[in-house]
Amino acid sequence: TPLKNIRNFSIVAHIDHGKSTLADRLIQVTGGLTNREMKEQVLDSMELERERGITIKAQTVRLNYKAKDGEDYVLNLIDTPGHVDFTYEVSRSLSACEGALLVVDASQGVEAQTLANVYQAIDVNLEILPVLNKVDLPAAEPDRVKAQIEDVIGIDASEAIEISAKTGMGVPDVLEAIVTKLPPPQGDRDAPLKALLVDSWYDPYLGVVVLVRIIDGVLKKGMRVRMMGAKAVYLVDQVGVSTPKKTPVDELGPGEIGYLTAQIKEVADTAVGDTITDDRRPCDKPLAGFKPSVPVVFCGIFPVDANDFEDLREAMGKLRLNDASFEFEMETSAALGFGFRCGFLGLLHLEIIRERLEREFNLDLITTAPSVVYDIHMTDGSVMELHNPADMPDPVRIDHIEEPWIKATIMAPDEYLGGILKLCEERRGIQQDLTYAGSRAMVVYELPLNEVVFDFYDRLKSVSKGYASFDYHITDHRAGDLVKMQVLVNDEPVDALSMIVHRDKADYRGRGMCEKLKDLIPRHQFKIPIQAAIGGRVIARETLSALRKDVTAKCYGGDASRKRKLLDKQKEGKKKMRQFGRVEIPQEAFIKALKID
Ligand code: GTP
Repeated sequence: TPLKNIRNFSIVAHIDHGKSTLADRLIQVTGGLTNREMKEQVLDSMELERERGITIKAQTVRLNYKAKDGEDYVLNLIDTPGHVDFTYEVSRSLSACEGALLVVDASQGVEAQTLANVYQAIDVNLEILPVLNKVDLPAAEPDRVKAQIEDVIGIDASEAIEISAKTGMGVPDVLEAIVTKLPPPQGDRDAPLKALLVDSWYDPYLGVVVLVRIIDGVLKKGMRVRMMGAKAVYLVDQVGVSTPKKTPVDELGPGEIGYLTAQIKEVADTAVGDTITDDRRPCDKPLAGFKPSVPVVFCGIFPVDANDFEDLREAMGKLRLNDASFEFEMETSAALGFGFRCGFLGLLHLEIIRERLEREFNLDLITTAPSVVYDIHMTDGSVMELHNPADMPDPVRIDHIEEPWIKATIMAPDEYLGGILKLCEERRGIQQDLTYAGSRAMVVYELPLNEVVFDFYDRLKSVSKGYASFDYHITDHRAGDLVKMQVLVNDEPVDALSMIVHRDKADYRGRGMCEKLKDLIPRHQFKIPIQAAIGGRVIARETLSALRKDVTAKCYGGDASRKRKLLDKQKEGKKKMRQFGRVEIPQEAFIKALKID
């Protein structure tokens, strides 16, 4: 296809504004799939994605479109992940395009992720086409939302297309606008191959499949390609396009988007953003801005039943095949036994992995409190990255600790503003900006990420009755008065419950934890002190009083089989208990104590 007849575009939108519905319509209108094939929502293929209605892995479809000018066009729609945790993947998908459809729900208006996503598109110089969706709804206010797009985002919305992705109304106009308003790609067919690695995933039949955008040159079957960042060389087995059915083609030229397979074993070898070139005739320099994605949130994941450890290891290995940004390494905890320390791109990423482990692999898991990565500056001048509170060095060797800070944008109807400001202030937030667009307020705060991984989303939802939208990115690391808080049960530290907290928050968090544990740990024959401590200093304390009656008395006398049954029951129950010194703590207690509420 000649360059002038190619258009590469993405759809950017806030969650639920109709991105997937519009994508499905575009596929249907251009005839990429039969109605029966359309039934399964195509772009969001993973079960969990469909259920949660969020896009995790970017996918691509090639649409063939005959425009009103009589010419045949190839339109490549690149799906972008919709959530803030996957910012880097969004930005790479966007940089494979020349334009973007900005979809805004005409009954809702601009939301926090509309802004975050459209600014990313503007940052990589894309032409933006505003599209107002859901105009079939009685609550739709297209004119108001157009004004809001101009006010808040600062782009011309006078020619915004009004559509209903649900009924199909206006969808043909979107196709025409893609052809007439978005620029075609540029590139040099005779130059050495230079391609952007947009995405990769594991396919049980094909192995790793790599999605590429060709910048210059030609990609063909049988070529030896080099991943410039990974410094790995592969022989290309197959080159193709996704319609969205995988269809092999002879070659991919400049401006085109397609996939390659090359006997690659793990997606970890194919980092998003890497540059692919011809090993025999390499391009002189890779594309700018390549950075491997790094996990920012860590937690421990342990099997409830110790016998599931090997199954858990295998399940994690399988998930990692398809998700190079998920990390794990073995960890042991005195309280929870053998498990893994895991790294994630953010909280949603953590939740998705945990749910998939539980659901797809049928595992019962305990997740410890999420922690961010701290930079510990030692007195000897060295710096260590701390992923696990249990590894905190002796405080006398620490000069200072730095923690990641974020810039958060929150949008909500103004009646909830008071509660939102209070929440941000409680979380050590620093207000940067407060503006109004109609009756919606937009606040920008700087916040320590450590305060956000601790139940911030849930609190935000509850103070705004679900109407607030939220987006953030990490900006920098700042020194903070951070300490390790330990929890002691019967004078023994319980490693799984220790956490890094800001000194000002320690009392509150310590008290909360002790009160919770007091209700969760069953009484024993003796008194059990439950304490929270920083270093050797106790900051909160509860005491669990002793049991007075001897429960085993019941077992005397009576018939033998009943007695045996009771003992069997006890044995079952014991399996679920963790022995802690002389104290037995039920598994449930850990789960509940670690559960953020
Ligand atoms: P993510 O995948 O989470 O990013 O969401 P999305 O933006 O892809 O939204 P999706 O297409 O899943 O649509 C969200 C909801 O809005 C669904 O229940 C759709 O049926 C509904 N919806 C989408 N377009 C329209 C429309 O034009 N009119 C009406 N009434 N509902 C729509």
